[in-house]
Amino acid sequence: MSDTMEPLLKVTGLQKHFPIRKGLLQRQTGAVKAVDGLDFEVYPGETLGVVGESGCGKSTMGRLITRLLEPTGGKIEFQGTDISHLGVSGMRPLRRDVQMIFQDPYGSLNPRHTVGSIVSAPFKLQGVEPEGGVKKEVQRLLSLVGLNPEHYNRYPHEFSGGQRQRIGIARALALKPKLVVADEPVSALDVSIQAQVVNLLDDLQDELGLTYVFIAHDLSVVRHVSDRIAVMYLGKIVELADRKSLYESPMHPYTRALMSAVPIPDPRRKGVKSERILLQGDVPSPIAPPPGCRFHTRCWKATDLCRTQEPPLLELRPGQRVACHHPENAEGLTIPEPRESVDVTITKTPEPTEPKAPKPTEPEAPAKAEAPESAESEAEASEAAAEDDAPKA
Ligand SMILES: Nc1ncnc2c1ncn2[C@@H]1O[C@H](COP(=O)(O)OP(=O)(O)OP(=O)(O)O)[C@@H](O)[C@H]1O
Ligand code: SF4
Ligand SMILES: [Mg+2]
Repeated sequence: MSDTMEPLLKVTGLQKHFPIRKGLLQRQTGAVKAVDGLDFEVYPGETLGVVGESGCGKSTMGRLITRLLEPTGGKIEFQGTDISHLGVSGMRPLRRDVQMIFQDPYGSLNPRHTVGSIVSAPFKLQGVEPEGGVKKEVQRLLSLVGLNPEHYNRYPHEFSGGQRQRIGIARALALKPKLVVADEPVSALDVSIQAQVVNLLDDLQDELGLTYVFIAHDLSVVRHVSDRIAVMYLGKIVELADRKSLYESPMHPYTRALMSAVPIPDPRRKGVKSERILLQGDVPSPIAPPPGCRFHTRCWKATDLCRTQEPPLLELRPGQRVACHHPENAEGLTIPEPRESVDVTITKTPEPTEPKAPKPTEPEAPAKAEAPESAESEAEASEAAAEDDAPKA
């Protein structure tokens, strides 16, 4: 992306630590560091893919940038405005510009509402009267996503998974958003339907000039849709690059391992060495991430430096940012010397035995924008959370 273009979204040092509380007094005993210092930009008209293993913080990141969650630290700027801690009224105009498509086309639609009322909900919430009336606009949206506008009065259970996801997409597009965060929008769908929905999102992007943040764990889907891709590991971005660089010469060992598991359909890459790298061990707990490079407990290249000093995310090639002391595919590049260590005294590297952090049963502090339990669908819960529970400005 051009350096001269203003980003639509700019994220700096973004953090979300979910407190873990115990005992009668609900004292905080620790925190799940779900997102732990992200820096990235999203440019108008592009698709930024976000990949990483389960639990690395992708959904949390998506909910932070759509401000369905309140960040613990860092900054989120949308079109140059700091929205990190905006209250309900400050967020209202933003709700129109930033929308989310959810993973589960079953859980994200209220089974008791008709398609018409689901897709028209954003107009009601925002007090917007579209030209020609709500019904006409909803029917236009239904046609836009390839559904029969006559099905306005039907209920979600009358539709297949792929059709339900189209309903979710129509709802997300109702207010003509600028940025759409799609959190695993096709992973719950049958493989044969996935391509249709991905192509629909692609066409809508061209037609409406949308900008996407596309979260997925399926690298072939991400490859298909993304201009640039961010690879996350344990709450951090370890590599961020344009699609071509990332797939053809990944520089972070973790990216390389992920890529090695993807079948390469391109005959031009026939001769390319493609040994499969099997990562050992589990992802460590985000409650106590390993010191130094978080990936060192599973990295075949780890040195003492990796175990003690965290590698910063640096632009090692134009447009390719990598957080690694000993990057791959770095022939001919001068890797900046690590800065002096800041008093890190490590005697023993903790074993990565702790399982993936379970979601603590305790709810988060009431000030946070969590979805109310009574909400009947994920999207409504999120809308409601954003409307009711976001911290006041
Ligand atoms: N509300 C919450 N309270 C406490 N911990 C949470 C909460 N939401 C997420 N987490 C934890 O934060 C970490 C990141 O979760 P997140 O859902 O963002 O991961 P993800 O990358 O989207 O995973 P997946 O691919 O499975 O969807 C996980 O360890 C998860 O258990
Ligand atoms: S910094 Fe070290 S441990 Fe981390 S990915 Fe690079 S080589 Fe592996
Ligand atoms: Mg997720």
